[in-house]
Amino acid sequence: MQTTFRKIGLIEKYRQHLPVTASTPVVTLGEGNTPLVQAQNIPKLLGYPNLQLFFKLEGLNPTGSFKDRGMTLAISKAVEEGARAVICASTGNTSASAAAFATKAGLKCYVLLPHGYVALGKLAQAIHYGAQILPIKGNFDRALELVRELADQTPVTVVNSINPYRLEGQKTAAFEVVEHLDRQPDYLCIPVGNAGNICAYWRGFKLYRELGITSAAPRMHGFEAEGSAAIVRGEPIKNPETIGTAIRIGNPASWQEAVRAASESNGKIDSVTDEEILSAYKLLGTAEGIFTEPSSAASLAGLIKHLKDGTIPHSALVTCVLTGNGLKDPDTAQKVTSVDLTPVDAEIDALKKVMGL
Ligand code: F0G
Repeated sequence: MQTTFRKIGLIEKYRQHLPVTASTPVVTLGEGNTPLVQAQNIPKLLGYPNLQLFFKLEGLNPTGSFKDRGMTLAISKAVEEGARAVICASTGNTSASAAAFATKAGLKCYVLLPHGYVALGKLAQAIHYGAQILPIKGNFDRALELVRELADQTPVTVVNSINPYRLEGQKTAAFEVVEHLDRQPDYLCIPVGNAGNICAYWRGFKLYRELGITSAAPRMHGFEAEGSAAIVRGEPIKNPETIGTAIRIGNPASWQEAVRAASESNGKIDSVTDEEILSAYKLLGTAEGIFTEPSSAASLAGLIKHLKDGTIPHSALVTCVLTGNGLKDPDTAQKVTSVDLTPVDAEIDALKKVMGL
């Protein structure tokens, strides 16, 4: 019996909407087609029982974040164009994704990371996939400046979201949201760091509206962390700070396009405090069984803020994008919840006593 292999990955699925041809070599790890899961408990817990809330679980991509959507295309195009080496600056997830796809394609991968500010799991991934790690004594914004200069002076292809193929690949997440809901959401809530992903979703929703697949597009509500909220403040931040190290960025590369995405969609870019981020992060775990990384919870934190202040109506259909997997940052998970881990005698009676049974 002959078996035929069904092609996987988002390039194969959405090739008519992507800048590829029949001869583009497709480098895939099976990215995309992530679950859209409806919240079961959070709407009631928040006091908005009519809220229709869905989470887009991007942490279920092959390297555990949404970056894989852009990376499959950026690396495929790099191979098509004859690149030998790729480079990126990263708060962690881009480096993990770039390293994995570059390895699969047989390309050398350099990653510049802000030393001391990358979650443990992300660093472990980049090491494991065989990238050359360059921790720098500086933050993400400085790392990105250096990457731009290196790309001018040496034969390396940049795979940060300033690479045009990244956002083109990432826009497929909007297609999936529409296909899973069978319509567009009223609102899309999303974390904002370097501000690429909000632009990518907006491109995707706009395209589906233009093609008549949907009759309207959602309002885009993007959320920066307060200590890194350059767009909200209207000026770059020299020393950005936040518990959400993934979005610890003071001079977002896609600033202007992100502002346009928010205004064209009648949405808003706002900020949330670290306290609000952590509270949403914990709520996802305890109320919905979802383990996401702290930065990702900025989308839910922002939604809660905008429900409270009336910016988002309480019966809206909302999708919150959860951008990365909680397993990437075990340190924060352990730090934010104090649990007694004193060992118990390995005896039934001792256990029953501790369990209160
Ligand atoms: N959420 C996570 C988990 C991220 O890793 C990032 C960005 C964002 C949200 C923000 O997305 O930059 O498109 O606005 N991480 C980049 C990185 C900067 O290097 O991994 P954005």
